[in-house]
Amino acid sequence: MAKNVGILAIDIYFPPACVQQVALESYDGASKGKYTIGLGQDCMAFCTEVEDVISMSLTVITSLLEKYKIDPKQIGRLEVGSETVIDKSKSIKTFLMQIFEKCGNTDIEGVDSTNACYGGTAALFNCVNWVESSSWDGRYGLVVCTDSAVYAEGPARPTGGAGAIALLVGPDAPITFESKFRGSHMTHAYDFYKPNLASEYPVVDGKLSQTCYLMALDSCYKYLCSKYEKSEGKQFSISDADYFLFHSPYNKLVQKSFARLLYNDFLRNASSVDEAAKEKLGPFSTLSSDDSYQSRDLEKVSQQAAKPLYDAKVQPTTLIPKQIGNTYTASLYSALASLINSKHTELAGKRVILFSYGSGLTATMFSLKLNEGQKPFSLSNISSVMNVEAKLKSRTEFPPEKFVEVLKLNEHRYGAKDFVTSKDISLLAPGTYYLTEVDSMYRRFYAQKDGEKTNCENGSVTNGY
Ligand code: ACO
Repeated sequence: MAKNVGILAIDIYFPPACVQQVALESYDGASKGKYTIGLGQDCMAFCTEVEDVISMSLTVITSLLEKYKIDPKQIGRLEVGSETVIDKSKSIKTFLMQIFEKCGNTDIEGVDSTNACYGGTAALFNCVNWVESSSWDGRYGLVVCTDSAVYAEGPARPTGGAGAIALLVGPDAPITFESKFRGSHMTHAYDFYKPNLASEYPVVDGKLSQTCYLMALDSCYKYLCSKYEKSEGKQFSISDADYFLFHSPYNKLVQKSFARLLYNDFLRNASSVDEAAKEKLGPFSTLSSDDSYQSRDLEKVSQQAAKPLYDAKVQPTTLIPKQIGNTYTASLYSALASLINSKHTELAGKRVILFSYGSGLTATMFSLKLNEGQKPFSLSNISSVMNVEAKLKSRTEFPPEKFVEVLKLNEHRYGAKDFVTSKDISLLAPGTYYLTEVDSMYRRFYAQKDGEKTNCENGSVTNGY
């Protein structure tokens, strides 16, 4: 039986095209500071007409296999999390099989998981469960979370983003699951959904989605705490974990969510929070649960009370989500990538709590334990492979007018057939995949910038990204 199953390796890809939130704010006529301070976002990545969720996944998988020298034949399960529907039957996973087929590996289980931003977590749990199961054949699992988050014109538009993350799963990992500490909350809600199959844009009740998110957070935290208490014989509180990672549609919601956990700790056991926080939260101790979700005062005061802990336990996880925006299924894992990027030398022995939320709704809070690991599967190597700062720096900023123009073109192209793209790949790094054509049968064709030669024996891909 495989031991210490978890995430062995990570790579991240996001499009080189981005728009600054400060510029978008002014273009949209929003008040100054609304997107940057109000929503807490810095910048937003977006796919131009040559990129989509399939090309981003092809790019990130190829990159991961190359950088960790994994032979494509060593992959036994491939799971995709995405809510960006390109085909109602054919999975994204089947497009990705092109990488493996040409190395003679078609023996790969797994398909796509879809439920808003939760699909990546479902895919990850599937892979971990497979490696831990009696059907495991000794090979690696591979998870790809890929989404292009775009909204119709309006208040939700600045909460978009785009990106893909690949997670290699196997035994003896530097990032392992503490599977007994896990709580889920799943109910029926119409907070964010995509009933119009002719459009990429969701229908979204923004305020309801915020409340649903916070209610799911409370419920998952309650279940996780009670499982921890049963297993460890003592209460769980924020002080029992080193970092907290959240699904991050926009940073303000992350700030509110962490503050909400502190409020939960205070209600359950006031002595678990410090004196200053206790004093601040005191007046809210008798608030009904329903009222607590609507209380602006509680929101403000709890964020103030949580600020020092937020700076220590959450802030190091926020770089990528603030810079590329909401990547839906990849969002939570871009927070994990941010943490490894900023703290990889100090993470051995640390516990990380993650909160995954998908509208509609499905949510799970779970616990990971970190150790330095052995090269190439070490935290420091993961950090250098991801190369986050360089990737962020090498992006091209577009003015909001251009961003809006790209979204308009993509609106027309969504679900369309019989077109070729401009094939303008000047922004793309070598090794990046791009969409070239959708033919009269809706078949999609991709190419890789600067070609690619896969060496299936040792898994190295020359000229790779
Ligand atoms: N300076 C500083 N802050 C400002 C300014 C300003 N000039 N103007 C407004 N703000 C603040 C507001 O006070 C508010 O902060 P607060 O909540 O701490 O008070 C924040 O900016 C946002 O302003 P709102 O008026 O609440 O924003 P609006 O209602 O226009 O839109 C929303 C925000 C609802 C999040 C919208 O962007 C949306 O619908 N997004 C998509 C839904 C979403 O992401 N939901 C999250 C979970 S589901 C998922 O992941 C998809």
